Amino acid sequence: MSPSKYSVFSSVSFSLFIFLLFSTEAAPIYSSHYCTGSIRYQPNSTFQTNLNLILSYLSSNATEGKHFYTTRVGSDATNKVKGLFLCRGDTLTTTCYDCITAASKEIKRQCPVEKEAIIWYDLCMLRYSNQSLNNIVPGVELSDPKSIALAELEKFNELLSGLLNALAIKAANSINGKKFATGEVNFTRTMKLYGLVECTPELSLFNCNMCLRSAIASVPNCCDGKQGARVLLPGCNIRYELYPFYNSTNVPVHTPRPLGRNRVEVILTFAIPIVAAMVLFTFGICASMRKQSRNMIQLWEKSQNSSEI
Ligand SMILES: *[C@@H]1O[C@H](CO)[C@@H](O)[C@H](O)[C@H]1NC(C)=O
Ligand SMILES: *[C@@H]1O[C@H](CO)[C@@H](O)[C@H](O)[C@H]1NC(C)=O
Ligand SMILES: *[C@@H]1O[C@H](CO)[C@@H](O)[C@H](O)[C@H]1NC(C)=O
Ligand SMILES: *[C@@H]1O[C@H](CO)[C@@H](O)[C@H](O)[C@H]1NC(C)=O
Ligand SMILES: *[C@@H]1O[C@H](CO)[C@@H](O)[C@H](O)[C@H]1NC(C)=O
Repeated sequence: MSPSKYSVFSSVSFSLFIFLLFSTEAAPIYSSHYCTGSIRYQPNSTFQTNLNLILSYLSSNATEGKHFYTTRVGSDATNKVKGLFLCRGDTLTTTCYDCITAASKEIKRQCPVEKEAIIWYDLCMLRYSNQSLNNIVPGVELSDPKSIALAELEKFNELLSGLLNALAIKAANSINGKKFATGEVNFTRTMKLYGLVECTPELSLFNCNMCLRSAIASVPNCCDGKQGARVLLPGCNIRYELYPFYNSTNVPVHTPRPLGRNRVEVILTFAIPIVAAMVLFTFGICASMRKQSRNMIQLWEKSQNSSEI
């Protein structure tokens, strides 16, 4: 390489480096999506108009520090559409807006005719449906390629489940508008394990807890021994890594629900084995049992409500 070529090359790569280092407007990182295949709409239909409208409402509402928003458009059965977005609890407002704007464009590209779809980005999630939003039941697991050394696996798994379970209780019991929790534990002398769990804030304590238990329960199947992983469900998501991946200076202050006030809730939160068993029914692992378990949840919720009175 001649000296002049070299200097051009290095100055280009240097400015690229500077650009990457200081560009705050990093492009949102797409993770995954799911379109419910069976329910479709006609091109140029009222449904499409309503869908475009709701997507624009969602991105225009991803401002002023809002991390979660849900709305609906249309009232007649064939054209109504509901939608919501969730930005990760530690994102800045501009990052959230950029993420939802990208997600609302990409979801139309990925799911051009479907009446129900969900898309996940690194820092946000957006979904819409012509029915109840809670009927969307896909889940996605993403794991890091690197594995934990076999000699340390047992210790790692113990720390991981301890961390995620503690964070799930914290997030589910949060009453400050964000059901979000992060935390870290020492893994080795030099390495820490970082975890994050979050629910969409409209979920009840019970449903948030169920969703997180389901996500945690799938880790041994999808991601055993991996240095990091994410489980993405419509109602909640979890992530862990051996490096800090969240902005710990922008984590919302945790406001715990006063424990002991509601006996049923306390029992639910700590009755982990029962809940974990029910979770397997609820989140689509066994479709035929879903309806049955939904009735069970309604029963539980009824008992929850009646105990509040
Ligand atoms: C939908 O509308 C666009 C623009 O108005 C038009 O180009 C397209 O052919 C229409 N598609 C259908 C299927 O009617
Ligand atoms: C937010 O969404 C509502 C509908 O739910 C819409 O009327 C409004 O224009 C949107 N944008 C802002 C900035 O509030
Ligand atoms: C959603 O749309 C599908 C297909 O058009 C329809 O069969 C279904 O009944 C709709 N759901 C609701 C709750 O309106
Ligand atoms: C974690 O490790 C750091 C230093 O590596 C130490 O200062 C800290 O006390 C440890 N925390 C726990 C809970 O052991
Ligand atoms: C982390 O949050 C703080 C505000 O609490 C903000 O100033 C900082 O830019 C954020 N860092 C990143 C990488 O987003």
